[in-house]
Amino acid sequence: MTMETKILNIDKDNIDEDLIGQAADILKRGGIVAFPTETVYGLGANGLDEEAVKKIYKAKGRPSDNPLILHISSKEELSPLVKEIPHKAKACMERFWPGPLTLVFKKSDIIPDIITGGLDTVAIRMPDHPIAKKLISKSGLPIAAPSANLSGKPSPTKANHVIEDMMGKIDMILDGGDTGLGLESTVLDLSTEVPTILRPGGVTLEDLKVIIPNVIQDSSITNKQDTPKSPGQKYRHYAPKADMLLFVGDIDKVVEEINKRTKDLRESGRKVGIMATEETRNKYKDGKILVVGSREDKETIAHNLFHILRSFDEAEVDIILAEGVSPDNIGMAIMNRMVKAANGNIIRL
Ligand code: TXA
Ligand code: MG
Repeated sequence: MTMETKILNIDKDNIDEDLIGQAADILKRGGIVAFPTETVYGLGANGLDEEAVKKIYKAKGRPSDNPLILHISSKEELSPLVKEIPHKAKACMERFWPGPLTLVFKKSDIIPDIITGGLDTVAIRMPDHPIAKKLISKSGLPIAAPSANLSGKPSPTKANHVIEDMMGKIDMILDGGDTGLGLESTVLDLSTEVPTILRPGGVTLEDLKVIIPNVIQDSSITNKQDTPKSPGQKYRHYAPKADMLLFVGDIDKVVEEINKRTKDLRESGRKVGIMATEETRNKYKDGKILVVGSREDKETIAHNLFHILRSFDEAEVDIILAEGVSPDNIGMAIMNRMVKAANGNIIRL
């Protein structure tokens, strides 16, 4: 089944009210609109309309036990959606909203089961992007929005990525240019005794510790054997079509090993992609070499990662050899996505 997908260009610094109005009308009528946020593009629908939300799962090909995040445009929109707002949540909202932090609350009765995958909690965030904010406030609805990629593919950071995955499947795409951060929001569970990060993201463990000193990370984030508490974390994700190997450790050894393997793989007839950094770019000779950013500025790596993964697919490489980064600050979220893209294939040097 295909449908007509309208693409509207919107300048985030000078928003055309009429265009946002068209998009908000589609949401109010139970349709699906993709829109930019400061993290990645989202696939939005009325979060209180079960039929509308079903269309999101269908367009993405998403397993129905993987719950969705509700997006709001002001803090006042939170209380009808949750049972209670714990003290720690208020402190986090004060410091990090609007922004890339999703909070998990005990849900109120108005939240349909299809949003939560049957859980008694609901994930909510207030995005920090002028188009997202305006669209949500114009619709007057909590907007359910997963990343606007096909399930399992890297999340979209450019409108073109959304067009690639969603053309003919949704009503509208708002093209507001590249997203900022480039990785999804941090998911923090405040519904349990110990505040727990379920997915690392733009707001880091280090940032959160300042506000909630006893915050921990779900053990599955750093230990592959443990079962994730967040349903979405158990799937192979952010995955390019090619195989991927992730190399971590001393950077000189990493470069040497990638060069050695590139030679062997090319001799056996495989097309090799190398995910390099600015500092190492010139140390590689063969293969399709793409620079993801600077080791000295991990924000650039976060911003470019998903686009680079998609670019390797376009180049039709068979295997990607990628340099890892140190897992501190935003590095934790970068490594979480890289490890998933590599399906856990890590080579430690
Ligand atoms: O940055 C973002 O968060 C983007 C933009 C569009 O806002 N959205 C996003 O949504 O990444 P999605 O659906 O791709 O990821 C939502 C994550 C999944 O890992 C899901 O399992 C988790 O949030 N999640 C949602 N509701 C939850 C809940 N009640 N308890 C635990 N985890 C939950
Ligand atoms: Mg996603």
